[in-house]
Amino acid sequence: MDKLLIEGGTILEGTVQISGAKNSAVALIPAAILADSPITIDQLPDISDVHTLCELLREIGGDVSFKNHTFFVDPSHMVDMPLPNGPVKRLRASYYLMGAMLGRFHKAVIGLPGGCNLGPRPIDQHIKGFEALGAKVTNERGAIYLRADSLHGARIYLDVVSVGATINIMLAAVKAEGQTVIENAAKEPEIIDVATLLTSMGAKIKGAGTDVIRIEGVQKLHGCRHMIIPDRIEAGTFMIVGAAAADHLLIDNVIPQHVESLTAKLREMGVEVQVGEDQILVAGRSNVLKSADVKTLVYPGFPTDLQQPLTSLLTQAEGTSIITDTIYGARFKHIDELRRMGANVKVEGRSAILSGPAQLEGAKVKATDLRAGASLVIAGLMARGITEIIGVEHIDRGYDHIMEKLRGIGANIWREPMHEDEARETLKEQE
Ligand code: EPU
Repeated sequence: MDKLLIEGGTILEGTVQISGAKNSAVALIPAAILADSPITIDQLPDISDVHTLCELLREIGGDVSFKNHTFFVDPSHMVDMPLPNGPVKRLRASYYLMGAMLGRFHKAVIGLPGGCNLGPRPIDQHIKGFEALGAKVTNERGAIYLRADSLHGARIYLDVVSVGATINIMLAAVKAEGQTVIENAAKEPEIIDVATLLTSMGAKIKGAGTDVIRIEGVQKLHGCRHMIIPDRIEAGTFMIVGAAAADHLLIDNVIPQHVESLTAKLREMGVEVQVGEDQILVAGRSNVLKSADVKTLVYPGFPTDLQQPLTSLLTQAEGTSIITDTIYGARFKHIDELRRMGANVKVEGRSAILSGPAQLEGAKVKATDLRAGASLVIAGLMARGITEIIGVEHIDRGYDHIMEKLRGIGANIWREPMHEDEARETLKEQE
């Protein structure tokens, strides 16, 4: 197990290439299960979540390869193998195997990961959708059992706007008999990406990206080639890196519309952001940062996944800032770590209240989840001295070669093996 070390204070400059979207990738790969011939997906991010899903598809009989960011699977010999334990438990998004296997085999057994560092993350809306389509769903010893004699279209109103439930219901419904309508659907770009792949496979889907999605079931889905969308959260993270520590940082391979809420917030804070066709230039470091209030919302609102990274930047803003997470009210595990580094911040309910600017100092800190990790990397880049981050495996789940990308723009960042006692403690916590 490694830890990440950062010597802060270096002025960054250059271009960062954005990888394919993690939150699309973890749905596109399970979607391939629904095809009866090979699927190729280009530009998938090289992250551990993608490797875990490749492992799971192999476990059920898929012929899978993942080389140079290109994913290939021949799903024709897959079987309805139960997946109650093992790698499935490492990955929150393994819930997409439920929709995909239910759609193809009319049955599935998928283990659920336990507690999560963002607080409770129920899947009641996914289950409500599967049941409406005709499945019987039970929870037996930490695994979800799904069975259906046949699947039929249904009208499903989501009580909570959920990315996962919207995608999962699409996966289960594309081969169901008749029409499915998902109302109050989520509108995130990743949903459009999954619908685009399914449509290339022969599915009939209308309205992805709006809050009503209509699906006409088809009998067969075939292989195809698909190019994933760029990762808007990785792009946003690097925009914040630019604002925090770069004179000029060019973010390449981004869909600017996907990060509009962040662009607006950074400009409000006094950061210069220039938007091109598929590039964004951020010139931030030399400006005095103004405080800002931020509230996370469903897309196109400010994404919860950028709340933690932006909090690190807000420690440098003059005056009081309030950042409220309406999606995950407990996504504040990074705050204690930022305080350890000298940030003036406290949590009240669903909000973090900051007063700045505060001089950050390097410290030993712990990434408790993926985006908490990103926030600590950003804090480390701004801090005086050396910051040591443990829990790097969380960062590796979702950021493609973050250390190499940061080094490419001049950051002084490196990995070292963890001391035995640190590694032992981390393993104990993960049990
Ligand atoms: N919710 C329910 N019931 C459900 C499903 C969701 O109450 O059945 C609630 C959740 O507890 C949450 C809200 O609805 O309060 C939204 O959750 P959603 O289902 O949209 O989240 P998700 O699909 O589980 C995805 C991303 C998350 C991202 C959220 C919100 C993937 C694999 N994960 O999760 O990404 O934070 O949408 O945009 O796509 C990350 O990338 O770090 C990450 C956690």
